[in-house]
Amino acid sequence: MPAGERAVVLVTRKLPDAVEARLERDYEPILNPSDKLYASEELIALSGKADAILPCHTEHFSADVIGRLPDKVKIIANFSVGYDHVDVAAAKVKGITVTNTPDVLSDATAEIAMLLMLGAARRASEGERLVRAQQWKDWSPAFMVGTQVTGKRFGVIGMGRVGRVAAKRARGFDMEIHYFNRSRLDPEPEAGATFHSTVDDLLKVSDVLSIHCPATLETKGLLNEQRIANLPDGAIVVNTGRGGTIDDAALIAALKSGKVAAAGLDVFNGEPLDIHPEYRELDNVFLLPHIGSATKETRDAMGFRALDNLDAFFAGNEPRDRVA
Ligand code: DGY
Repeated sequence: MPAGERAVVLVTRKLPDAVEARLERDYEPILNPSDKLYASEELIALSGKADAILPCHTEHFSADVIGRLPDKVKIIANFSVGYDHVDVAAAKVKGITVTNTPDVLSDATAEIAMLLMLGAARRASEGERLVRAQQWKDWSPAFMVGTQVTGKRFGVIGMGRVGRVAAKRARGFDMEIHYFNRSRLDPEPEAGATFHSTVDDLLKVSDVLSIHCPATLETKGLLNEQRIANLPDGAIVVNTGRGGTIDDAALIAALKSGKVAAAGLDVFNGEPLDIHPEYRELDNVFLLPHIGSATKETRDAMGFRALDNLDAFFAGNEPRDRVA
């Protein structure tokens, strides 16, 4: 930026107060106090004066949108670790830097993975609804019997930052950790977990399967009918990554047949409005609205991390979390 000028940052959603205060101190932010969700046309129009965009995963930067952004826009500093909402190849072609916010949301997201695992295994959603609807009439040894996870096998797809924290938390339940990852981890981060070189091998030993890999062309529909057949009967499926890794029709069929005893899902294909309608009908699913990183500490940290990336970029340095 020319000396004395501050970069204009288009901020697409309402961010935590402390993050917006820092934005106002150091930049010329275009804020969104009403937290309106911008459609692509609006996003492009609002980018007119921007040097940078600070979006969430709720805004989609397709090749078309990126192609139509003003040349002045030089960086998309995401407020998210996932960046499947940005066509990074198109950004590279246009010379736009893209960053994300890894690390800072691993603890919060792993907490939600544990909540989903327990909620699914112990039928929390069903039980909660019974109590609220005054349908809880009796206690009996056969009432609301679920799956115990203690001592079972916890299978992780994607042993990155979040997957590793989730594995650590699952060890607290004396679970045996297994994982699939593109490459085997070093002994220290592996921490005694068993590496499987294929997803299918991992599935065979996953009493609880927890999906943590990013949504890419390779992982789209990864948990499909053929793969589900490899799971132990009565397995539990947990997803805190992205909905695209699950073939919904296949998972729903398995939840109906009992092949999969229960699922805990925080992310969905078509979220928020167009999730597969049958999920809403099933008792054996524990559903949350994409709140893996939704804690005050984490949302502040995500904002600060996005700002650190902007600061580095406008100081002429390599942003720490550059993904394109
Ligand atoms: C992330 O950071 O990717 C979360 O899913 C929220 O966008």
